[in-house]
Amino acid sequence: MIATSPFILTELTESNILLITINRPDKLNALNRKTIDDLHEVLVEAEQNKEVRVVIIKGAGDKAFVAGADIAEFANYSVEEGKQMSSQGHFKIFNFLENFSKPTIAAINGFALGGGLELALACHIRVATDASKLGFPEVGLGVIPGYGGTQRLAHMVGKGKAFEMILTGEMINAQEAYKWGLVNYVVSKEELMPKCIEISKKISTKSPTAIAAAIRSINAGYNSQLNGYEVEIEEFGKSFGTEDFKEGVSAFLEKRKPNFQGN
Ligand code: COA
Repeated sequence: MIATSPFILTELTESNILLITINRPDKLNALNRKTIDDLHEVLVEAEQNKEVRVVIIKGAGDKAFVAGADIAEFANYSVEEGKQMSSQGHFKIFNFLENFSKPTIAAINGFALGGGLELALACHIRVATDASKLGFPEVGLGVIPGYGGTQRLAHMVGKGKAFEMILTGEMINAQEAYKWGLVNYVVSKEELMPKCIEISKKISTKSPTAIAAAIRSINAGYNSQLNGYEVEIEEFGKSFGTEDFKEGVSAFLEKRKPNFQGN
């Protein structure tokens, strides 16, 4: 059982997929401090729970994924509080999700703005509905993206488009986001969760140890402190010491489906 709070609803499916819903629909699921804290708690638990193989994050209601950080909450922050908000967010959610050992999928059902787009960018895979709008409106409020947006957006779409999106503050539609590689798929509203679950099911039958190693290796290439190739060599080598590797190879040779335990 994974903890649930009023702002963060959870459901663990039979196929080991954890569905997380950001639940503040009357505020378009804006991320206030409590939502960030509760989401962090759920993610920590999900990371440790072997039953969870994939995490899907969506927003409650049919209007927004997440419309950003809660503007009303940070309206009177000082310089120090602003810095704290950003660093705590990185630590609790955004870096945490990017480095999560299990794949994370953002199911973008409407507005993904500011912190909402940053949340989607911190996930490993993004699926959007054709009615979704994505953008970084922060400069219109006199701030900049502070949950990794200036970095992850440029990694995802290139520096030129990142400059355009962040400096104009304009939203783009889902088709344009797809064209720029910002989302993996664009589907209808009805197809959103089935598509995310279809992707999750493909992943959930694979080796959790190999999946975690692949995530570490891909991320290493975007970390200026690390050499991605060296990390890949290490992770590749370590795979040979896992039970999952023995199981995967045995299953192939015995012409049966593998049953990975994640060890
Ligand atoms: N923080 C706090 N509250 C937010 C919010 C945010 N980021 N985004 C939306 N809300 C609230 C609105 O204040 C409103 O609350 P109210 O009913 O108590 O007045 C409610 O959510 C519905 O939003 P509303 O603006 O009435 O919906 P809309 O359809 O007219 O506009 C948006 C939708 C997304 C265009 C608009 O809400 C918006 O621009 N939100 C802010 C986006 C943003 O700047 N995000 C980055 C923050 S750093």
